[in-house]
Amino acid sequence: MSNRFEARYQNGELPWDIKRPDFNLIETIENFQIKPGKAIDIGCGTGDNVFWLFQNGFDAAGMDYSKTAISRAKQKAATININPEFYVSDILQMEIPGGSYDFVFDRGCFHTFDEDRERSTFAKRVHEALNEDGNWLSLIGSVDDGRLMMGPPKRTAQQIVTAVEPYFEILMFKQSRFESDDEVPSKIWVCLMRKRAK
Ligand SMILES: C[S@@+](CC[C@H](N)C(=O)[O-])C[C@H]1O[C@@H](n2cnc3c(N)ncnc32)[C@H](O)[C@@H]1O
Repeated sequence: MSNRFEARYQNGELPWDIKRPDFNLIETIENFQIKPGKAIDIGCGTGDNVFWLFQNGFDAAGMDYSKTAISRAKQKAATININPEFYVSDILQMEIPGGSYDFVFDRGCFHTFDEDRERSTFAKRVHEALNEDGNWLSLIGSVDDGRLMMGPPKRTAQQIVTAVEPYFEILMFKQSRFESDDEVPSKIWVCLMRKRAK
């Protein structure tokens, strides 16, 4: 499968790959008392957030459409003696693999899609993969960062709400910053959602 991220994983252009979990994930799980269950990280990259979920009681998996990212995630998991499931899969092309989930996470995957219809497909697929009352936590680059020509893709609150609201009740929508080694980390939206009954 060829894609623009595959080339970046092969060339090592990975500013997002900070080799530790994002504090926004940890804080949200704790603050909302999200119970460990079956979880998947969409666009998991080399897996650090999957590892945190797995080590904190979740039956955690990761998926990414970059073969290189998933191969690195598997190698890293082996070095710390854990065995989460990993899938090479494209969220726009097929349903989320591995059955149904209680918790879906993505850090910087949903925000990569420029088109409304792609973001809507993403939200629909997450909705389909979640169990009743399941939650999706998404960390999304924000236009309020201001630095529009650099850093991660940036979305308006309206773009996000348009894609997710038909499928999800929004439980929290707040401004934060990515976990990062940058002096001034990029501003993000932290969006926690609960699957709507359909
Ligand atoms: C900005 S990176 C973030 C990676 C990881 N979540 C992290 O925080 O280190 C976005 C990730 O989404 C993955 N991705 C982009 N489009 C995808 C798609 N259509 N299906 C699955 N994964 C995708 C990329 O390969 C990349 O690993």
